[in-house]
Amino acid sequence: MDVTIEEYDGSHRDLAWSFREAEDSEQLLNSYIDLGRLWVARSPDGEIVGHLQAVVRDAQVWEVTNTAVAESARGRGAGRALLERAVEEARSAGATRVILATATADVGNLRFYQRCGFRMTHVVQDAFAPFRGYPPGIEVDGIPMLDQIWFERVL
Ligand SMILES: CC(C)(COP(=O)(O)OP(=O)(O)OC[C@H]1O[C@@H](n2cnc3c(N)ncnc32)[C@H](O)[C@@H]1OP(=O)(O)O)[C@@H](O)C(=O)NCCC(=O)NCCS
Repeated sequence: MDVTIEEYDGSHRDLAWSFREAEDSEQLLNSYIDLGRLWVARSPDGEIVGHLQAVVRDAQVWEVTNTAVAESARGRGAGRALLERAVEEARSAGATRVILATATADVGNLRFYQRCGFRMTHVVQDAFAPFRGYPPGIEVDGIPMLDQIWFERVL
């Protein structure tokens, strides 16, 4: 799909439906949804089919805090286009690393980020525990969603 990536200058909460595709904790989502910058992927007819939020952590490091593509538009390059845009923006702002985290249970995401040039750095056990607002018992393809894995792309 030919998507156009553009910065979104409205309220991030307009796109809460898309953030929720990548965040199961309403408590956490509420704590970070307004931060940073937001880009959207639009299909040729102008519909928003994905988003990416990035937050500057320090002069060197940008973090992709949430990204998702609508289910009907997945597997056609929109996710990669959003990530590449974030990487370009980070590089032109003088950052040297883009970091992000996902669930170790989501094996598809592990492939996605590595296909997009990211490398694994470390695992945080129990990052998706109920005390952080995650419903108990979430599984991805039979794997309990408990641990978080961090990735980086050196620019
Ligand atoms: C993860 C996500 C953003 C990927 O977006 P996408 O538009 O489908 O990804 P792309 O089409 O750009 O894929 C780029 C590459 O990653 C691969 N890939 C993407 N999702 C994959 C999956 N679930 N399993 C295996 N490979 C996958 C593609 O096959 C492609 O590989 P290729 O270069 O070998 O062809 C999308 O699946 C999604 O929104 N998932 C739900 C929300 C989520 O998990 N967000 C991330 C949370 S950290």
